[in-house]
Order: sequence, then structure tokens, then C-alpha cells
Amino acid sequence: MPNAQPIGIFDSGIGGLTLAHAITELMPQENIIYFGDTAHLPYGDKSATSIQSYSLKICNFLMEKNCKLILIACNSASAAAYDLVKTYVGTKAIVVNVIDPVIDYLNDSWEGKTLGLIGTKQTVNSGIYASKAEALGKGIHIKSLATPLLAPMIEEGFFNNNISEQIIKEYLGHPNLAHIEGLILGCTHYPLIKKQIDAYFQGTIPVIDTSRIVAATIKAILSERDLLIENQSIPTRQFYVSDYTDSFEKSTQIFFGETIKLTQYPIWD
Ligand code: DGL
Repeated sequence: MPNAQPIGIFDSGIGGLTLAHAITELMPQENIIYFGDTAHLPYGDKSATSIQSYSLKICNFLMEKNCKLILIACNSASAAAYDLVKTYVGTKAIVVNVIDPVIDYLNDSWEGKTLGLIGTKQTVNSGIYASKAEALGKGIHIKSLATPLLAPMIEEGFFNNNISEQIIKEYLGHPNLAHIEGLILGCTHYPLIKKQIDAYFQGTIPVIDTSRIVAATIKAILSERDLLIENQSIPTRQFYVSDYTDSFEKSTQIFFGETIKLTQYPIWD
């Protein structure tokens, strides 16, 4: 598998660009192809069957593009479709989800602790973080809360303002999150509101932004298999969405840190 093959990244929309950004920061030489399924956003309210079907079609696209690794940069799709995607892709590419790297991190650093988790309905109702943490056998307990308003709120540009502060306050004050010793941001949109979440807790507990953890896992996997690209001066970065609007393109600035050009690629019949 030549090292110059791109890293494929997909999400329900442009939220996964927070992860694409973390990856380009950590591995600036790598070629990346991003696919945001904006036609079906949000995934968090969809059935597992629908998310699985969307995910396989996106993987077909990323495999056609010869990706060496496919990152499911969405917690909802990682919860609903990872096993299926992994089987489907087989040996054609390495498949990484955004949940297992966080579980490995908890295993290393959070023995005997109680953590909160916020995410979409799909992620939280799947119970996947809680069951995987439990399976570690290290007494790590996860208390979860679905926070379905947060991703659409962020997509609409409502963050770092009074409205987002009120919504965040309302969710984080929920009894489900009482007495936690840390909070996992279980949605790839949430790094954008980390500052406000930190402000809510006023430094009393750590708020875990998983994008750096996942990016570090990808680097380790590629390095282990000798698949990191070396000595490339200008990497290629391509960004596709299944439904294009100007407003998505404008929002990329918020999620990726710079405005990028989105290409529409409708992958549906
Ligand atoms: N970015 C997705 C995730 O990590 C959430 C957004 C959505 O509901 O589509 O779960």
C-alpha cells in the first residue's frame, strides 16, 4: 500500500472537519480526502440501518479514491456502522473509528473513575462507550446524556454566545451528569464548544476533546505499518459533500480553521 495514498475521513456533515484539522496538524504531510454527508445530516437522529447504508456508500467512494485508511469521523456512525464497515472494507484499507481510541485512553488513565459522556441520541442510546468501558474491567463508569440540540446549534453558528451558553448550561446541569470526574465530548462537533463547557465546569473537571486522541492513534497505526508519508512538500486535500450549499462552505472556516473548497458529489441513486 503506497504511503502516498490518502487518509479518507467521513462524517455526517462538516463536524468531522474538527478531526480532519487535528490530523493535518499532527501529520501535515499526509494527503487527505474528506467526505461530509450533508444530504443526510444529522446522523444522530437516524436509525442504525440508515447510517449503515450511508456509511457503506461513502466507503465505496473512499475506496475508489484508494484511501490507505478510512476514519469514521463521527461517533454516531462509529457506534452504528463500524463492525459492518470493517468487514465490508476488508483488507482494502485500514478502518478506524472514533470510539476505540478513546476507550484505550480511558484504559490508560482513568481507572476507577466516573466519567460523563455527551453525544447524539444514536451514540448515547447505543450504550457503546459505557459497555466498552465496563469491558475494560477497571471500574470505569460512564454516565451519559444525549444532547441532540448541540450539533445543529453549532452547525448554525451558535457557539460562544448567550444562546449556546444557556443550552449548554441546561444540559450540563442534568442529574445524569452529577458527580462526574471528567467529561468526554462524544461528538465530533463538540470541540467547538469546549471553551464554553470548560467555563461551565470552571476547571473543576477535565473536559476531554477526543480529536487529538484519535489523530494520535492514526499516526501510531500508520507509523507501525510504515505507511506514513515522508518528505512531501505540498499535500493534496480534497473535500466532498453529498449536498452543497454556500452556507456549508462558509462554515468550513469554523470547523477546519480555514475556508476550503467543497465539491458536491452526490453518491445516491
Ligand atoms: N458529528 C456527529 C457525531 O460525532 C454528530 C452530528 C450528527 O448528528 O450528524 O456523532
